[in-house]
Amino acid sequence: MKNRTVAEPYKIKMVEPLKVTTRAFREEAMSAAGHNTFLLRSEDVFIDLLTDSGTSAMSDRQWAGMMLGDEAYAGAKNFYNLEEAIREVYGFRHVVPTHQGRAAEHITSQLRIRKGQYVPMNMYFTTTREHAERAGGTFHDCIIDEAHDPACEHPFKGNVDVAKLDKLARDHGAESIAYLSIAPCVNMAGGQPFSMANLREVSAWARERGIPIIFDATRAVENCFFIRQREEGYQGRPVARILREMMSYGEGCTVSSKKDNLRNIGGFIATNNEEFFTKAKEMVVVFEGLHTYGGLAGRDMEAMARGIREMVDDDYIASRVRQVEHLGRRLVEAGVPIVRPVGGHAVFLDAKRFLPHLPQDRFPAQALAAALYVDSGVRAMERGIVSAGRDPRTGDHRRPKLELVRLTIPRRVYTNLHMDVVAESCEALYEERDAIRGLRMTYEPESLRFFQARFEQV
Ligand code: F0G
Repeated sequence: MKNRTVAEPYKIKMVEPLKVTTRAFREEAMSAAGHNTFLLRSEDVFIDLLTDSGTSAMSDRQWAGMMLGDEAYAGAKNFYNLEEAIREVYGFRHVVPTHQGRAAEHITSQLRIRKGQYVPMNMYFTTTREHAERAGGTFHDCIIDEAHDPACEHPFKGNVDVAKLDKLARDHGAESIAYLSIAPCVNMAGGQPFSMANLREVSAWARERGIPIIFDATRAVENCFFIRQREEGYQGRPVARILREMMSYGEGCTVSSKKDNLRNIGGFIATNNEEFFTKAKEMVVVFEGLHTYGGLAGRDMEAMARGIREMVDDDYIASRVRQVEHLGRRLVEAGVPIVRPVGGHAVFLDAKRFLPHLPQDRFPAQALAAALYVDSGVRAMERGIVSAGRDPRTGDHRRPKLELVRLTIPRRVYTNLHMDVVAESCEALYEERDAIRGLRMTYEPESLRFFQARFEQV
C-alpha cells in the first residue's frame, strides 16, 4: 500500500472551547472592525488563521519549563539554557534575546546599516523592510522573478537571483550593500523555500565581495523540510543537520521565536561576529532589557530553549508541513486559485484570480478576507496592496504583483477537520465570488498600515 496516512506525533492534553456564531453576528462584527480582520476580537473567531505567529500550542515539556523560570534580573539559568540550545541547533556562538523578532530587526538594522546603503532581501517582509528604512537603508528585492508569479510551480521560489545582486553591486559598488537579508520560507511569497544550492551560490558571491549574510531565520525549519523533500542529496537527512548547514553560510540571524520556535513570545539575535555582538548587547539594554533577558521572563526563555529543540524533530516538522499541504490540496481539488506550490506555514488564496472583477485599488484581498470571516468565522489576513504600504519617495501605493489572502496555520493547534471547514468555506465563496464587493479605505495609519487601517464597502 502506498501513501499511508501519517498522523501527528502528539496527542491533545488540554482543549480551549471555540465560540460558534451566526452569520448575522459575524456581519456586524466585521463591519464594526472596519473590514480589517486585525480589528476583530479573537473570541468572535471560530478558526483563527490570522497568523502562525505566537499562536503555537506548547508541549507539556515547555509548560513544565515555565515552572522552572529563574526570575532573576541578571544571569538567569534559563538564559544559559537558551544560549546552549541556540548554539547547538543554529550553530551561532553569541545570543542576544529580544522580546520578539522585530526588536532583533531594529537592533540589527540600526547597527549594521549606514544611511544610504542598500539591503537586498529575497522579497520584503513588512517589519524587516520598515526597520531597514528607518535605519536609512533602501530595500532591494533580489528574489527570482518566479516568486512574483502565483501560478509558477518552481520548487524553490524563495531563491535569490544572483544576477540582481550583481547588477546592484555593479551600479552602486559592493560597499553600498549593508548585508544580504535572506529569509527562508519567504513569508510574502507564499511561504516559499530557497534551495541549499542557491544559498551556496549566494554565499560564494557575497564572500567574494566581503558582504555578510544575516538571515531572517524566523521560518528556517520549514525551509529545511522542503530541502529534505525536494533537493538532490538531502533526502532522508535530519532537518537538524540541514539547519546547521544553512546557518553556516551566514554571519548571524535574527529570529522571531513566535514561529519555528513554538513560542507565544520571544526572539533573538545570534551571531559569530564579536563586534556586532558587543554592540547589540549594549543596545539591547537600552531598548529591551539586560542582555541576559532582553525583555523576556526567565520562564519564557526556558520554554523557548525547549521549543528550539522540539522544532527540529523530523516527525513533528513533517506533520506540520503536511497539514498545510492538506489544506492546499483540498483547495486545488475544488479549483480555488491559490499560490503554487503550497508553502510551509500557510496557504495563500490568489485574490487577483479569485476576484477578477475587483481592481487592486478596491483591495480585493482585504475584501476576500472579510468575506471569509462573514461566511464561516475563519480569520485570515490580507497580503497585498494594503500590506505593501506606500512608497516613501512618491507617496503612492506600492502595487505588488501578488494580491493574496493568507490562511496561516498555527503549529500543533488545529485538526485536519478544521482545515476541511476552511476549505469548504473558501469553496463556497468561490462559487459566489461575483457577489463580493470591493472596499474603500477610510482610515490609513502612516506605517504598517495593514494592522490598523479601516475600510467600508463600495
Ligand atoms: N520576519 C518574518 C519573516 C516574519 O514573518 C515576522 C513576523 C517577523 C520577522 C517579525 O517578528 O512578529 O516576532 O516581531 N511575522 C508575523 C506574521 C507578524 O504574521 O507573519 P515578530
